[in-house]
This record gives sequence, C-alpha cells and structure tokens, in this order.
Amino acid sequence: MTGTASAARPAEVTVPDGPFPMDLWSEAVYSRRAIPDTLAAGAPVPGTTDPSQDPLPAGPRLPLAPPPLRLPPSLDSPAGLADPAVLAALLHYSYGLLQHDPAPGGRPLHRAVASARCRYPSELTLVTPEAAYRFDPLRHQLVGLGVPSAARRPFAPGPPAFLVITSRFARTARLYGDYAPRLCAQEAGMLLGAVHLVAAALGLPARPGADLGTLLGLCANWLPETGEHPMGYVELGPEPSTGADPSTVADPASPRAGGQPWLPPDLASVLRARHSGAAIFDPAPLAAPARLLTDLGAALADAPFDDFSCHLLVSRVTGTEPGHLVHDGGKTRRVQDGDPLPLLEQIGQTEGRMSMNFRATACTAYIAVRRGEAVAKYGADAFRRLHLTAGAVAHRICVVAARHGLSARVHNGYDAARAAHLLGLSPDEETVLFQVALGTARPGASFRVPVVF
Ligand SMILES: Cc1cc2nc3c(=O)[nH]c(=O)nc-3n(C[C@H](O)[C@H](O)[C@H](O)COP(=O)(O)O)c2cc1C
Repeated sequence: MTGTASAARPAEVTVPDGPFPMDLWSEAVYSRRAIPDTLAAGAPVPGTTDPSQDPLPAGPRLPLAPPPLRLPPSLDSPAGLADPAVLAALLHYSYGLLQHDPAPGGRPLHRAVASARCRYPSELTLVTPEAAYRFDPLRHQLVGLGVPSAARRPFAPGPPAFLVITSRFARTARLYGDYAPRLCAQEAGMLLGAVHLVAAALGLPARPGADLGTLLGLCANWLPETGEHPMGYVELGPEPSTGADPSTVADPASPRAGGQPWLPPDLASVLRARHSGAAIFDPAPLAAPARLLTDLGAALADAPFDDFSCHLLVSRVTGTEPGHLVHDGGKTRRVQDGDPLPLLEQIGQTEGRMSMNFRATACTAYIAVRRGEAVAKYGADAFRRLHLTAGAVAHRICVVAARHGLSARVHNGYDAARAAHLLGLSPDEETVLFQVALGTARPGASFRVPVVF
C-alpha cells in the first residue's frame, strides 16, 4: 500500500513490530552488540566443545576509545600512542572486528586481516615496561595480563611500547591438523604487516622486528607456558635518540614524510571494504584499473622487510599487456610477455584440481623468499622469519586490491615446486610462500555488515 492508503488508516491501529523490528536493523547495521556473545567469544557455543580449549584471558578489562571512522583521523595527534584515539585506531584497524556476516552457514566474523577459514589464531599484545595488555578485538577492549587492578589507570603507553604477535596454533589445527603452523606463520606475518601499515597511516613511527631474543624477552612475563607461540613484534614510537637533530631525520614510516605515496587518503574505508571473495574464487573477468600495478609496485617497495621477490602474473589490467612481471629490490621489471593462463593453471592446483578460476582473475601474485640463505643463517627459525616477511607483503597486496575495488584471495592451493620451476626461481634456493589472486568480485551470497564500536 502506498501513502494515500495510510491516510485512511484509523488512528488507533498500530503498526506491528515484526517480523523485523526496527531496533533489530539498527543494531545489526550499527553496533557490535548485535553479535551474539557466543560468537564474540571466538569459541563454539557452550556445550558443543570443551570451552577450556579456548580460554579468554581473565585479567582486568580496559575499554578502548571508539575507533575513528577515518584513518588518519582528522586531528593531528602529537601525543602519539598516548592519545586514546590513536591507540584504539591502531588496534582496531590492524586486527579488529570490521564486518559481521549474519547469513546462516557463512563465516560470521571478519577482521582487518584475512585468516584461513576465519580461525584468527594470532593474538596481539601491547607490551610496555610496566605491563602487558591483550587486545580483545571482539569487544574492542584491552585485557591486562598479570596486571594488578590497581595498575589499570591511568593508562597512557609511552615509549618503549611494542605490539607483540603470538599464535595459538590449536585454533587453526582443529580444522587443519598438522598444516596449522604453516597457516599460523603466514597469518602472523600478515598481522605484522597490518600493524606496520596502520601505524604509518597514523603517522606513528613503527619498526617491525623478527629478532628471536628480543621477541622472547618481550614475552617473558605473560606468555602462557603452553599453547601460544611467539611470532614477531613491532616497536612503536620514536627511535631512541642518537643525538642527531630530529628536524633532519625523516621518518620513513610516516606518510607525512612522503614514505607511503600509495596509501589511500582514508585507509579505514579501504580496510572496511577488504575481502577475500566468495567461497570459490571466481571473479568477473573485468580489467583492473591501470593504477593497480603502480600502487602495487609502490606498496611492495616500502614493505617492512626487503628480502623477498614478488612475481605478478598479469592477466587483465587496463593499459598493461598480459605477462609476467617481477618485483625485486624495490623495482618492478617485465620478464615475459603473453597470457599467463597456462602458467597459472599449472601452478594453482589443489590435488590436481584448479584452485580457482584463473580465467577471470586480473592478476595473481606469488611471493618468493630465499629459503636456502635463510636456513643457513637462522636454522629452524628461518621458517618463522620468512613467513613474517612474506606475510607482511601479502597483506599489502590485499589492501592495494581493496583500494581498487578488487577482492584478493590468499590461496594455498598451489604446487610450490612447479611454481619455483615455472616462475624461474633459483633452484634449491628460492621458494614461493604465498599465492594471492586479485579479481573483481561478483555479487555473492554473503551479507557483510560493518561493525562499529
Ligand atoms: C594464510 C591463509 C591461507 C588461506 N588459504 C586458503 C585456501 O587455501 N583456500 C581458500 O579458499 N581460501 C584460503 N584463504 C582465504 C580465507 O579463508 C579468507 O581469508 C577468509 O575466509 C576470510 O575472509 P575475509 O578475508 O574476506 O575476511 C586463506 C587465507 C589465509 C590468510
């Protein structure tokens, strides 16, 4: 019925609330409170599995400021991390809960960083000389780890402050078994890349680190004895003074110093739009915007580590002929002309089946590292270090894709030996750690609503 009919409605008739009362809609669209607590706990519904497998930290809870909707926020904050809005933005846009998919049977919670089947095994902990605080993304709070409640306030972390990444392999192992450490190492690297990137957008100096001794020292007083593995860290705040005139020292991580020319003017909206595509990655066969490759090159050139190469198999990007490009040492060069489809279809296989529809992707990235060299230098710890490097790069690729309206799918369905051979990597030295496909998403069955705290 239209408006003219309602004029004839008797005054005493009230419009029924159901089936979708308005407050349900406003809750679903606007608030984290719409998400059931059983989901927010990150644990199965009570009674279905042993809840002690997935304990939440029990310390005092500190609410965080609401994260700003734009990044950087409009206010310039000389206080850095001690500004509650800056700390909230850094945590939320690095690893916070950004989207809720209420569709039955889907994956309900999506964070700022991709995670294999949304298991989110990584944990992010703010470590200061006084205490350690675990980020609870699902409630947008910090939880004091071994912090006496008297030490809860005032809370204004100054330097030195670190964000430490640990991983609970068991979360992922419940679905992936022995393959979990590989996924967890990849995801730790992606999270490290995310922290570095968001810090840059906030103008916060940030120095990602992989040094094992420093990492273990940072975890010394709060890491549980079992079940959680130290993975990496990012040191935040200005570097300790060297006596140099600060006005002459450019901060390479600061966009205001011109360090990140590819960063979008509002990183927050790009991160809210980031997604990995539908269950089977089958994008629309449309050409990506010409800026994609320029921005990818710039984003890779100032990645937090430089010991990687990235092979871009370009299928359809406006203004660029299909072919094989390699980014190495801060520069991108073309090594092969022609449609990369035969290569993609040989490399991107899961047990003999094509992992996704490479006939429709815009571009597929393979991130390679020098395994031989790293093993010689770091022994078994090379695995963690190399995944940190490659993961940080993979997250940048996902963000650049989102900036250009594309989905980016990290997909481990690839044949590493065949990739090394067909991409021309140094035999027994280089290996591929990530395959990331980029494409224009088709409308899918999922229904993602932004979550606002
Ligand atoms: C390390 C890693 C490995 C992944 N491997 C696969 C894979 O082999 N196959 C697949 O379909 N998706 C894979 N994914 C994609 C995730 O399932 C996807 O990121 C997740 O559903 C979250 O979606 P969102 O990024 O849109 O929030 C992987 C993601 C990550 C981070």
